[in-house]
Amino acid sequence: MQHLISISDMSSDELIEVIELAEKLKAERYKGIVTDYLKNKSLAMVFELPSTRTRVSFEVAMTDLGGHALYLGWNELQLGRGEPIKDTARVLSRYVHAVTMRVREHSTIVEFAEYSTVPVINALSNLEHPCQIVADLLTIKEYKGSLKDVKVVWVGDGNNVCNSLILAAALLGMELVISTPNNHLPDEKVVSRAKEIAKDTGAKITFEANPKAAVKDCDVIYTDVWVSMGQESERDERLKAFLPYQVNEDLVNRAKDDVIVMHCLPAHRGEEITDAVIEGTNSVVFDQAENRLHAQKAILLKLIGDEY
Ligand code: CP
Ligand code: NVA
Repeated sequence: MQHLISISDMSSDELIEVIELAEKLKAERYKGIVTDYLKNKSLAMVFELPSTRTRVSFEVAMTDLGGHALYLGWNELQLGRGEPIKDTARVLSRYVHAVTMRVREHSTIVEFAEYSTVPVINALSNLEHPCQIVADLLTIKEYKGSLKDVKVVWVGDGNNVCNSLILAAALLGMELVISTPNNHLPDEKVVSRAKEIAKDTGAKITFEANPKAAVKDCDVIYTDVWVSMGQESERDERLKAFLPYQVNEDLVNRAKDDVIVMHCLPAHRGEEITDAVIEGTNSVVFDQAENRLHAQKAILLKLIGDEY
């Protein structure tokens, strides 16, 4: 893996290794073991859009591992005044060991990576959110003991997080049901790539537009906002289209009793998820958020760690 722009930049084995490494690093942090696997390494964090979890978890991950992170808001860089992406990529590559970027348009990070001589990590684009999914897989493994024989159902918008989940499920041979309105399906290219990968891994990725039917006997319900960053002008249309897809107590009661409810956060209570569900006993959203930290460390070590 040279960059992490799509979750499918990793092979199945690499993805499993990253999850296992995240588990190990989590255990070390809980034991108070201090490490300096990234001593003298620097990470540039370029953000074109806001972030709480991704920004803080990457920064703390670098600090915990003995390295240094620089938060670089898009408009505080010369990028905001029109300096080309390709120039910024070549300049930052001379200073730091890796760059993580959150961008509006996926093509921006693809172009940046083309010119960067250091690893580039996707901290969310309109197409994918790979780092989120590493943390999510760790969370599912912790709660369900395995990533096999687990039925995961995505409910809501076929968005960036959904796209990365589909590719991860394909890589790991998982069972995933996508329940979205027919006019908000995940990215077509992502789905066909996932189907290709699934031929080798045996993953079962299916579509069921009716969320009540989709969640039957499922182990994991995963949802995300109905209006992602950059889609604010579509808000009214989206709120109407997604109304039947709310993760509420009725929907959760149709799944297995021990179903876990996941959300990458930030959540909009009363829209895609109710307050009762997010605060309820099936919700694992804060463990999931914590796992972002352990996952980021594993990703960083895989990309720029010399020894660990
Ligand atoms: N889940 C996630 O990426 O959250 P932030 O937007 O706060 O980083
Ligand atoms: N789908 C959401 C995820 C936020 C972490 C968005 O893109 O805004």
